[in-house]
Amino acid sequence: MFKSYHKILLSTVLVASVTSTTVFAEDKSISRTYENGKKVIDGGVTYPVVNSKTDAYHVNEVASKGGFTLGRTPTANEIKAWDIDVMPDGTGLPDGKGTVEEGDEIYEAKCASCHFDFGTGGAGYPALQKGNAYEGQKSLTNQRLTPNDDGPVRVFGTYWSKASTLWWYIKTGMPHPAPMTLTNDEVYALSAYIISINELTIDGEELDDEYELTKEKFLKLKMPNENGFVPNIDGPTGPDDTRAYFNDFSNYGNGTRCMENCFEGEPVLARISGSGISDYQPPIVNKKELPAQEEAPEAPGQKAYEASCAVCHATDSMGAPAVGDKKVWKSVVGKGIDKVYGNAIDGINGMPPRGGTALSDDELKEVVDYMMSQSK
Ligand code: HEC
Ligand code: HEC
Repeated sequence: MFKSYHKILLSTVLVASVTSTTVFAEDKSISRTYENGKKVIDGGVTYPVVNSKTDAYHVNEVASKGGFTLGRTPTANEIKAWDIDVMPDGTGLPDGKGTVEEGDEIYEAKCASCHFDFGTGGAGYPALQKGNAYEGQKSLTNQRLTPNDDGPVRVFGTYWSKASTLWWYIKTGMPHPAPMTLTNDEVYALSAYIISINELTIDGEELDDEYELTKEKFLKLKMPNENGFVPNIDGPTGPDDTRAYFNDFSNYGNGTRCMENCFEGEPVLARISGSGISDYQPPIVNKKELPAQEEAPEAPGQKAYEASCAVCHATDSMGAPAVGDKKVWKSVVGKGIDKVYGNAIDGINGMPPRGGTALSDDELKEVVDYMMSQSK
């Protein structure tokens, strides 16, 4: 089951809330315990305390032997402690048993406070029961082709493709505030209860109160949405399966390869509705909606400047002090503001009176103020 570091990383993310490193086997010897004094026990391995650091990872055994200077090789026990996933084929699933009735009791005590009676969910907590299950169950494949409200509700019974996830999820993640506190038998009992409220059958058999779930029976559970996730990206043929899926245009969109007018009306792509999920999916748009351009409020005098003065004052090519040229305007303003206003009104050299306009004195002053403000 321990094949690659990817898996370790993955399970680290998925069970981030798991603080203990106890494995399912309930093997006491590898539970994490720290000792005071000169030694530290972690994952069943004893480490010396170095420079009064009690963290095992400060002791870099590999580095001291001249290898990589990152970490050290995990011990078999440490791998065992991390390697807690349960695979669809039953790898990682321990032995155990529990009845629906036992599960019901544990559920009332430890789960109903959040997931509500019978797993109906609510108040932001996910429902654990069947939703719109079983009869006429639509797979996600159908959803993609003809999106409608009959699609699978996103709960265990109607959406999850692998039963093994249930056992693993409860064992490593629930109850939410105290993950990894349930015994294997309790998890079997809870799984039995959840399977029963989802009205799923095992080997054609309904799960009544006395039904006792075991590892063997659990592995026979077939999920209605087992083939709902396409393309199947898993396994050695995953890349080919994925390519084949996308090369077959009947699998998505309107079934043809097209770049325009591909949809009648609004395009709806693989939308899953009936579960509230569409509520927070942004509507699909085919136009890019840019935010409205925010126009800077116009400064007083700006319009008149652009209409009547910029023709000479935008650059110095006409011998006029160019707006934006700080140095030139500093010397202009240095003459005293009244003089400058006066020159604008009466004209000076190449500067025609009032810049050749019919603006009033006050309006002209406003324009001059604007020109100065742009040249500081
Ligand atoms: C304190 C609240 C709380 C308690 C108690 C609790 N859960 Fe949960 N449970 C949650 C939350 C929150 C989520 C969703 C977590 C997420 O999506 O990240 C969840 C998710 C789940 C899921 C996955 C549902 C899905 O469709 O994604 C299962 C299964 C589950 N809980 C089972 C249980 C069981 C069994 C118990 C009792 C042993 C339990 N929970 C107790 C809060 C709780
Ligand atoms: C036909 C070109 C022309 C137009 C149009 C024009 N100016 Fe001028 N302006 C000049 C020139 C040339 C000078 C430099 C005069 C000098 O000092 O020799 C000048 C100088 C100025 C000065 C500086 C005066 C000083 O004391 O040095 C101000 C202020 C000014 N113009 C305002 C305006 C305003 C306001 C407008 C528009 C209403 C305007 N100008 C339109 C050519 C123009």
